[in-house]
Amino acid sequence: MLRILCLALCGLLTPARADPGALLRLGMDVMNRGELVGLRGAGGWGPGQGLKVKDVKLPVITLSFVPGVGIFQCVSTGMTITGKSFMGGNMEIIVVLNITATNRLLQDEEMGLPMFKSEGCEVILVSVKTNLPSNMLPKVVNKFLDSTLHKVLPGLMCPAIDAVLVYVNKKWANLNAPMPVGQTGTIKYVLTAIPTTTANYIQVDFSPVVRQQRGDTIQLAAAGEALEFPEDYAAGSSQLLLSAAFLTAELALLQKSFDVNVQDATIGKLPPQTTETLAGFIPEVAEAYPKPKPLVTQIRINKPPKVTMRTGKSLLHLHGTLEVLAARRRGKAPVSLFLLETHFNVKIQYSVREDRLQMATSLDRNSLIKCRAGNLKRLFLYFSEVLQVGLPLPDFLDMNYNLAELHVVENALVLDLKLD
Ligand SMILES: *[C@@H]1O[C@H](CO)[C@@H](O)[C@H](O)[C@H]1NC(C)=O
Repeated sequence: MLRILCLALCGLLTPARADPGALLRLGMDVMNRGELVGLRGAGGWGPGQGLKVKDVKLPVITLSFVPGVGIFQCVSTGMTITGKSFMGGNMEIIVVLNITATNRLLQDEEMGLPMFKSEGCEVILVSVKTNLPSNMLPKVVNKFLDSTLHKVLPGLMCPAIDAVLVYVNKKWANLNAPMPVGQTGTIKYVLTAIPTTTANYIQVDFSPVVRQQRGDTIQLAAAGEALEFPEDYAAGSSQLLLSAAFLTAELALLQKSFDVNVQDATIGKLPPQTTETLAGFIPEVAEAYPKPKPLVTQIRINKPPKVTMRTGKSLLHLHGTLEVLAARRRGKAPVSLFLLETHFNVKIQYSVREDRLQMATSLDRNSLIKCRAGNLKRLFLYFSEVLQVGLPLPDFLDMNYNLAELHVVENALVLDLKLD
């Protein structure tokens, strides 16, 4: 009974569908750059049976996407096999061959990471030439092909494909490791499901886990519609899409960091503010403080910050209070002059530095707050400082984000990944 109740309740508690908070689309550009096109150490193997391999030609590797499966890989190479002919004397066979395999894209169950697994490795002989007398050629070569090459070459070449995949699979290893956001918490890029392959790209959906330092998880607000990539990116290119809901959850980690007491001239290079600055437009202040006193501005953000995105424009919404106080002599509490309920609309500019997403703020023209006091300028410098921690981006296949071009689209930020 209890179990049934739990099942019913748990069913209600878990969302029907995990909304991905981030999407990654990998085009052929990334695949062709990665080690999938490397064939390391192919010259190191010997086929046994007294034969030696030399002069392995630099492999030419062609990749293509197999929808629903993964990547088809064809390695074209050539080599010279030498050994003793059964008639005595040295024998040299120059073979040109293709090694083909399908690298199925799976999700490693234990680690939850994407994983390629090669299937159906085959060696196709494209041409065979020998230095044996030509009158013996057909018989000897045919016999040799049947008895040796077809048996020996797959065992010789297919492990090279597997070795490459082991290497590539290791390059996903950090993908779902927790990455710190300053001292405030961590982000984990957890896969929503097994990555999907289409004719043009591989797509990886993430349900990122945003966790506060003390362990609580910040839930992502459910997106109204399914996240989708705009379709206007070049064929074969790669993109990363981060939803506004995900960025909002990340900034919730920083909510407390936005609380600030602005008093010193330590923020930016602006001169210190005093009651005299305010007296210009609040005459009562001039009366109460004939001698200028330094001002303290206290910001308290009392709701989690929110990020919104419309094509070409992103805003950070901060709700809270702004209190201006006059400082007093040491040991005495400052005196409150006024307190405002505030809603700051801060315009965000995105960039990438050191593989982290950076945000810079500026006051939006439509912001509800318009203030002549220079303290506001300090405030925005301060917000920018808070945001400088940067937000970690998924770490996979040695991706370098620093050349990415950023676009704000509806409800998401797209990083168009340019490769070096
Ligand atoms: C070998 O691979 C190359 C490159 O993919 C291809 O053009 C060629 O047709 C292949 N040859 C055979 C015999 O499969």
